Amino acid sequence: MFFRLNGVSRQVAVAPGETLLETLRERLGITSLKEGCSGQGQCGCCVVRINGRVVTSCTRPTTKVAGQDVVTLEGLAPADRQLLSRCFVAAGGVQCGFCTPGMVVRAAALLASNPKPSRAEISKQIAGHLCRCTGYVKILDAIELAARVRRGEVELPPDIQAGEDVASGEADGDPRASHSSRSSRSVGRDLPRYRGRSYALGEEPYVGDMAAADMLHGAVRLADHPRALVTAIDTRRAAQLAGVRCIVTAGDVAGQRRVGLVEPDWPSFIAVGETTCMVGDVIAAVAAVDRRTARQAAALIEVDYQVLEPLTDPVLALQPDAPQVHPSRANLLSTTGYGRGDVEGALAQSVHVVAETYRTQCVEHLFLEPEACLVVPDEAGRLQIYSQGQGVYDDRRQLCLALDLPTAKVAVTQVPTGGAFGGKEDLTVQVQTALLAQRTARPVRLVLSRDESIRMHPKRHPFVMDYQMGCDAEGRLTALRAQLLADTGAYASVGAKVIERAAAHACGPYYVPDVSVAAQCVYTNNPPCGAMRGFGVNQVAFAVEQMVDQLAARVGLDGYQIRELNLLREGQPFGPGHPLAHCAGLRETLVALKDRYYDAKVAGLACGIKNVGVGGGKTERGRARIEVLEGGRLKVLHGMTEMGQGLHTVVQQMVAESTGLPARSVVEVSVCTDDELNCGMTTSSRATVLVGHAVVDAGTKLRVDLDEAKGDQTTLVGRTYDGEFCCDWTGQPGTDDAGTPLHLSFGFATQVVILDEHTGKVTKVCAAHDVGKAINPMACEGQIEGAVHMGLGYALSEQLELSGGVPVSTSLRKLGVLRAPAMPVVEVILVEQAEPNGPYGARGIGEIGLVPTAPAVAAAYYAFDGRRRTALPLAELCCEAAGDPG
Ligand code: FES
Repeated sequence: MFFRLNGVSRQVAVAPGETLLETLRERLGITSLKEGCSGQGQCGCCVVRINGRVVTSCTRPTTKVAGQDVVTLEGLAPADRQLLSRCFVAAGGVQCGFCTPGMVVRAAALLASNPKPSRAEISKQIAGHLCRCTGYVKILDAIELAARVRRGEVELPPDIQAGEDVASGEADGDPRASHSSRSSRSVGRDLPRYRGRSYALGEEPYVGDMAAADMLHGAVRLADHPRALVTAIDTRRAAQLAGVRCIVTAGDVAGQRRVGLVEPDWPSFIAVGETTCMVGDVIAAVAAVDRRTARQAAALIEVDYQVLEPLTDPVLALQPDAPQVHPSRANLLSTTGYGRGDVEGALAQSVHVVAETYRTQCVEHLFLEPEACLVVPDEAGRLQIYSQGQGVYDDRRQLCLALDLPTAKVAVTQVPTGGAFGGKEDLTVQVQTALLAQRTARPVRLVLSRDESIRMHPKRHPFVMDYQMGCDAEGRLTALRAQLLADTGAYASVGAKVIERAAAHACGPYYVPDVSVAAQCVYTNNPPCGAMRGFGVNQVAFAVEQMVDQLAARVGLDGYQIRELNLLREGQPFGPGHPLAHCAGLRETLVALKDRYYDAKVAGLACGIKNVGVGGGKTERGRARIEVLEGGRLKVLHGMTEMGQGLHTVVQQMVAESTGLPARSVVEVSVCTDDELNCGMTTSSRATVLVGHAVVDAGTKLRVDLDEAKGDQTTLVGRTYDGEFCCDWTGQPGTDDAGTPLHLSFGFATQVVILDEHTGKVTKVCAAHDVGKAINPMACEGQIEGAVHMGLGYALSEQLELSGGVPVSTSLRKLGVLRAPAMPVVEVILVEQAEPNGPYGARGIGEIGLVPTAPAVAAAYYAFDGRRRTALPLAELCCEAAGDPG
């Protein structure tokens, strides 16, 4: 059939049922269109213009566009491409970048038809696009900016053109320009996102966009039941399908079949004779000549089961007669807790005591890029793995165990990650893809569908939390008792760590003299739960903040007054008893919002605290290397994942700050296990601190040589500078005492949620955050805006509904993620109380952005109608979350 593509007539042969997205991406190699929802037409990542109208290509059969005019991002007018990509970068509208090309196509069409759109009109236009990173705020800013530049009302700042063009390889510059002057400090500036324009134009390849010569395509056959004994697996029909090259099952795993970040309980394949634990379990994997054939073959694999009743209630899972999810161990994954003082006595003597049970829901990350892996074997059997996970070194460790290969035989390279939020810490398809590549001795790429992605990766833990809390007549907190129960689903993932972190934060950012916290994490046959932005702290914040509000009401105080009275002060014990240090910013965030809270007619207020770094006595390291390339340009290597949070941009800034060179000197940032710069997992808001310190260490060494070379780094070509940072409190005196720091540092925040006094809808969120030092204020704001969006969704509408351990739906429409028109105004106030343990005073801010949001919404609702809400999502006053992509 024929159609016109970007003005050129194209003839293609298509398979029956083939979508335009498949044709464009897989036959014609146009990868600016992204596949985010696998044919649901719900994410907007794949939009194109057909005869001038913006539509989703994943829902259009290619045969339907015969003779029509199809325009992709590549076919937009060069002036539009340049303007929009620059405006997205200038406004901070690019984070992980996976949604951005679709947004750019939409924006170009909008501005062509409406040169002066209002913010509400823009918001309505992008209602069909999901963005999980930005909260849409800076995307709206970007499109507004583009409209204004187009109308000649403003000009873009010069550094958007200079620095960004060099980073994206489109223009040249002299990186030696300003070493000696140090006139423009880099830290504290809104440096444009590393390779931002390339992301905006869809030119930065994610795993699913990458290809290798002679590449095969992989697919997985997942389990049909969350708990069923597998009695037979028949791959014969699948193997006979033309184009199938290989099928692997449990028997093909040479090494350790069960791996995991903490507990090795997650099998890469379920074997005959074993019982499934969840509907995301892998039965088999297929490699074929194309993705369609691979998926078709996977569906042809027949599995016989003896179906068993799934265990879905964590309370029932703890009963002595409950069946075991894992035959080798009890259903109780872990317990944790702590206590100090006499809680019974303190509660008995308290003037006011409140007790409540809170429930929170299972939530899907919905990073826009589904999991994918590309494995390229070489002739010696060494595997080059391209990963979009959150820790290349943990990926390598587990892959070596699974494949029974030495470390030298596996290299894992990080490629752009289309969002993660904790959901890409565990392995999903890396082992299966690697096995297929080994067996076929050919490159294999395996990309999950959205449905498979939701079934496989760990979610946010649902909690049940029983709280009891007391205060004296003036409202000073006296005692707290908390019992937490978390459903960790089928596999351990990092569940034990999540419950530890939740327990540690159970008192919130408040001084409570007498405390008893007990927590349990329990296996069920529900989808696994693990890391998700906030890591257990969001759940307890929802509970403890409302307990504080309930006590305030008893005493006759408001939300501000009781927090002012009880917020932790320097040296007072945080949660488990460790004295909190450098926490002046906590109170400052509260004070920053005093007027917003009191000036609003209907508002709720909540505070938040969140650890930075894994902590708990674990030694944490950051490692980095700077290489001086030809022409004096710099390449930076480190060990953590850029997943949209702006880590590589921060690295550029810290190199610039520590060396005195311009940030655009750093032309490449690279992460690969071959560099042996293990920093551990990119988790717990620690990347900026750990990698940042290491980069500064390396940069400081380079600076010494630069000074000797009188600023001419071209004389240093070929030299490398290693930097390292180690946080190790294990050898310090008093390690086991309460005086040992629990974490590298903490983040602090206060948020005020304001409602419309008539409708009860959220109209504004004010978020004051102590970020220590804003290395890149625009990126800091973007992180917080995106987190607020996620927090509002958590509060109002997000839920992965399960029935019998199975997601009721994996439609994105059903997940409750807020779309642009549902977002209120978000005002971010950056408080900067320098953190002594952070590079240039920075704290990690990735997670805390949504810690106070849900309780602040609950408090606002209470102010609106006088009803306490104890279960998430709060739902009933929510704005419409859905939208129509076109
Ligand atoms: Fe929109 Fe990541 S920038 S999904």
